[in-house]
Amino acid sequence: MTTQSPTFSTPYQALGEQGIRELTNAFYDIMESLPEAAGIRAMHQDDLTPMKERLAEYLIGWMGGPPVYAQKYGSVCMTKPHAGFAIGESERDQWLLCMDRALDAIDAEPALREMLKEPMFGIADMIRNR
Ligand code: HEM
Repeated sequence: MTTQSPTFSTPYQALGEQGIRELTNAFYDIMESLPEAAGIRAMHQDDLTPMKERLAEYLIGWMGGPPVYAQKYGSVCMTKPHAGFAIGESERDQWLLCMDRALDAIDAEPALREMLKEPMFGIADMIRNR
């Protein structure tokens, strides 16, 4: 069996803006309902709707698309908006679990998951502050 190269070179090319919005909607719906993510759910505001939008805008740029978040809010290092929350390995892993389940929910293809694995861990671990 030959391994096929992916037909995209960035996650944005694979998902498009719409796909990224579906991913972030699924991400916060999962955070809302997954008992294992209750710890990080409790850190967020009651209404997760604004976060669906903000994470989508951030990820569109981070995944190789237009820098919509930076255009709106300036180029913000992600450690800053998280500095007021206690984020250790457990919180990082809860976040990554939600992202993993969200990728399941949108039926993300294996090549995309592979492309995201290390950088997604990297940015979540960078946000960790204890
Ligand atoms: C490592 C575990 C993480 C935890 C526990 C966490 C938690 C939070 C919390 C509590 C907020 C504030 C939400 C609110 O006001 O309701 C927030 C904001 C945000 N987070 Fe995270 N986060 C994590 C990782 C990430 C990662 C990896 C990304 C990006 C890939 C990200 C992107 C954002 C964005 C874009 C905002 C909004 C910032 C703003 O514009 O104010 N977060 N996060």
